[in-house]
Amino acid sequence: MGGLPREAPRFPSLIERGTREHYDDAILYDYEYRRRLRDVRFYRDIAQRHLGGPGHILELACGTGRITRGLVRDGHRVVGLDASLPMLSRARARVAKMGARAQSRVSLVAGDIRQFGFRARFPLIVMGFNSFEHLYTRVEVAACLGRVREHLTAGGTFVFDVQNPNLHWLVRDPHRRWARTRFRHPETGERVVYTTNHEYDPVSQIVVIRLYYQAADRERVVTLAQRKFFPAELEALIAASGFTTTARYGDFDGEPLGPDHESQVLVCRARASE
Ligand SMILES: C[S@@+](CC[C@H](N)C(=O)[O-])C[C@H]1O[C@@H](n2cnc3c(N)ncnc32)[C@H](O)[C@@H]1O
Repeated sequence: MGGLPREAPRFPSLIERGTREHYDDAILYDYEYRRRLRDVRFYRDIAQRHLGGPGHILELACGTGRITRGLVRDGHRVVGLDASLPMLSRARARVAKMGARAQSRVSLVAGDIRQFGFRARFPLIVMGFNSFEHLYTRVEVAACLGRVREHLTAGGTFVFDVQNPNLHWLVRDPHRRWARTRFRHPETGERVVYTTNHEYDPVSQIVVIRLYYQAADRERVVTLAQRKFFPAELEALIAASGFTTTARYGDFDGEPLGPDHESQVLVCRARASE
């Protein structure tokens, strides 16, 4: 992924790894998030509500097609875009298991959420599961939102979610290992002990997370970088790019955002040109 300047003062070399490594093992990714179903339901519902029937959806950062599959099953035509080839290849395998008519409604494309261009315009654009947190700077946010604006039909809707930054979590001791879990790798069967820790830079608001996968004879360390967006800041960024936030939820069940919610789910409309 090249092109746009990245200003991540404390962790410049980790941003590239932190945008890629967690997605290199797409089978493991799907295993780790196999119980994450509420957001899929939410995106299916919102598509139904906003399109009123089968429609045309652009899904940015579609990954392994976790959300895509449900949207396609509901009859929508979906263009899914992602930068990770392993994630896209898993998404393609997922789509290949669907019936021929469903398959004909999906198109999966390698690309960058900051720089894409399609001829089509979409009444709904979605970007699920914290993917917006891979936009690390104001420049990247504006670039992505500019592309979204350009690709929405008049009155179209953009829906995405990010985490609601948890101050206690952000300042956790980076030298300790947290969230110890044991499992078998879903493909190799190898026994793995998983732990994690992270370092947060309060100036860039970027957190660099390390995911440790300890097997019998080796430890694999995966870097994941995320930009944290505080709620009022996020609304300001959205507004500065010409959008109005029409709804803001704190979870995937439609509750208005509150201080204890883990997610921020934003439904946005592009304002008419001023
Ligand atoms: C947390 S995953 C979410 C994937 C999928 N939406 C889901 O719900 O499972 C984030 C995705 O963003 C993609 N991504 C990160 N930066 C990107 C960029 N600049 N352009 C396109 N995709 C990007 C990653 O490859 C990854 O598939």
